[in-house]
Amino acid sequence: MPVSKKVGEAMTRSSWIRRMFEEGETLRADGKGTVCDFSLGNPCLEPPGEFTKRLAELVLSPPPGVHRYMANIGHESTRRAVAAYVRDEFKVAVTHDHVVMTVGAGGGCNVALKAVLDPGDEVIVLTPFFVEYAFYIDNHGGTMVRVPAGDDFGIDHEAIARAITARTKAMIINSPNNPTGAVYSRESLGRLAALLREKGVEMGRTIYLISDEPYRKIFYDTQHCPGALDVYEHSIMITSHSKDLGLAGERIGWIVVHPEADDAESIHGATAFLNRTLGFVNAPSLMQKAVETCLKASVDIEWYRRKRDLLYERLTAFGYELVKPGGAFYVFPKAPGGDDVAFCQLMLKRHRVLVVPGSGFGAPGFFRLSYCVEDSVVEAALPAFEQAIKEFK
Ligand SMILES: Cc1ncc(COP(=O)(O)O)c(C=O)c1O
Repeated sequence: MPVSKKVGEAMTRSSWIRRMFEEGETLRADGKGTVCDFSLGNPCLEPPGEFTKRLAELVLSPPPGVHRYMANIGHESTRRAVAAYVRDEFKVAVTHDHVVMTVGAGGGCNVALKAVLDPGDEVIVLTPFFVEYAFYIDNHGGTMVRVPAGDDFGIDHEAIARAITARTKAMIINSPNNPTGAVYSRESLGRLAALLREKGVEMGRTIYLISDEPYRKIFYDTQHCPGALDVYEHSIMITSHSKDLGLAGERIGWIVVHPEADDAESIHGATAFLNRTLGFVNAPSLMQKAVETCLKASVDIEWYRRKRDLLYERLTAFGYELVKPGGAFYVFPKAPGGDDVAFCQLMLKRHRVLVVPGSGFGAPGFFRLSYCVEDSVVEAALPAFEQAIKEFK
């Protein structure tokens, strides 16, 4: 086989989301009616006008040299703008010297993980989890340690305490969460920070908290979306504008290393170096310049909230068991009958509705529904959800 055994195996078990999407494509092609597709977290809102206006200006009057190579960390003006935004958001003394512009959050996660991991180092991940973490951690020689989320998909501090060993180098958190929509409270993050500090002392090594926050502007029930920078000095925040500005295809994001993190300077230096040597070289130049003036902007969050409210209310009324999501654009109900794969197959084959089995996120028994869809798709699918739960009783 020309492909390495490891990659071949990873490809076959890699993505339920892709698999469902491909099955959906087959269904779409059969000409027997519409397919309601809740499988992909692909933001379908166009970027805000503020962004497109700025991009148009940049295209028509590009700053001299903007299309050339630059420092691997990105444009200084953009990093200064990001640092100001972060200072304002988290009240932490971040400067542009703690910021690296990245190729999305995915690029940022790879850079950050490679910066801190030695072979065999353990990285704690809460299940259910964004499935790519498994590959990202493996890419850089780490070992993923799964810890089940707690009540309502929150942080189970006791379970994390039990999972930490002398090999634990980092923990990844993701709030607002994909796939559950959970938003961790500041109090819960504060307890996590205290635990990581205490365990770090006990184990004789710093445990870094890698906080993957590409949904941080999509939250519904609080004033501020708490993040790792709010509570823990040894944190590395990663985000992108894939979701908040609807720029998933443009691949633009950033990393901030907390200025008080152990070895903050060398970690920042390593992320700059790795941006280059992992082959990204630098984040897309025009996109850096375009987001620089739009860091506080976002797509219409109300558009998502309406769908969250409608889906929560109706699915609950039909008898589905689900936790009300506080952010992102996913709901993660229990699969009626308990077999998530069977349920998703039924939704697909009998009702032409695409949802993803929780197994794809390390959480069998649940299914994920992404509501990056028009209201008409939600309305069209509701009778199918009502019918499907009866079929599994
Ligand atoms: C939790 C999580 N992290 C990272 C990413 C990657 O985002 P980006 O497009 O910024 O690479 C996604 C994308 O869906 C995600 O859901």
